[in-house]
Amino acid sequence: MHSMAELEPISGDFTGKSIISIDQFMANDVEVVMTETKAMAEMVDSRGCYDLLKGKVVANLFYEASTRTFLSFEAAAKRLGAATISTQGVEFSSISKGESLQDTIRTVDQYADTVALRHSEKGAAAKAASVSNVPIINGGDGIGEHPTQALLDLYTINSKFNGMEDLTITMVGDLKHGRTVHSLARLLGKYKTQINYVSPEQLSMPRNIVEELRDKVVQFETTDLGEVLNDTDVLYVTRIQKERFDYPEEYELHKEAYVVDAEIMEKLDPNSIVLHPLPRVGEIHPEIDKDPRAAYFQQVKNGMYVRMGLLALVNGKSIRY
Ligand code: NCD
Repeated sequence: MHSMAELEPISGDFTGKSIISIDQFMANDVEVVMTETKAMAEMVDSRGCYDLLKGKVVANLFYEASTRTFLSFEAAAKRLGAATISTQGVEFSSISKGESLQDTIRTVDQYADTVALRHSEKGAAAKAASVSNVPIINGGDGIGEHPTQALLDLYTINSKFNGMEDLTITMVGDLKHGRTVHSLARLLGKYKTQINYVSPEQLSMPRNIVEELRDKVVQFETTDLGEVLNDTDVLYVTRIQKERFDYPEEYELHKEAYVVDAEIMEKLDPNSIVLHPLPRVGEIHPEIDKDPRAAYFQQVKNGMYVRMGLLALVNGKSIRY
């Protein structure tokens, strides 16, 4: 085991590396994750589980609310035969006594071979990785990034469209605070795509990300969802991130900014798909769930496959050999 530099490029070798940001990935590295994920999906379909990580321990440290990311890391580890040690919430952890994140990580890396971390502070995963002797996988760091979500989003898009070339992805909602769209935009930047950003002006995609992608993809910003509906292959809906606002009135002002209903679906291409990282709190009417274009629950399943793939790769394993 070796100590980890911040934002170490993957460069074709995942073994022992932390997964903090999409910036660590080149297109080839993403391909490796996609191939491994597909192999995991096939394995789960055919036999359910496989002891690739038998004898390994995965720690899930979740200091912010989570259902899917937490449980899918649990399920992913267990389907590969690893044991899990997990904690949710700060209340019962030494953090509530004032322990630093660094000291918590220096403790947990004595017990586990991989740590999945969710934390309320942007940059927390990088900070954890800088002191950890085992790979840290960023399960969401405040308004920062959510790389495993972006990879599962990409996997879902890829499985529908057989590649990314020339697709137009419309991201709608709270693009300022939504870490999933921060990571997904960076990931889409590696392909010849167009990204439409639809948000209230106050909740627009951070300028540094738009700037980063300026020469890589076509980007278009608007407050009007109707303007881009007929030029959308993937409608990526996000929640207005209530917990990130300084003032409740600000949240109240924006909470129903965009709601996907039957009328919107009618204007959307029959070959498009609708994604959402979930949880939804009203942005997509439940009546849409039976529409064949609604892919957000398939997306949930893909999350487990992607995390199985990543857990295998950072532990130096592959289900394909
Ligand atoms: C997202 C998150 O936590 O960033 N959820 C998830 O991990 N699937 C999205 C959100 O909370 O809105």
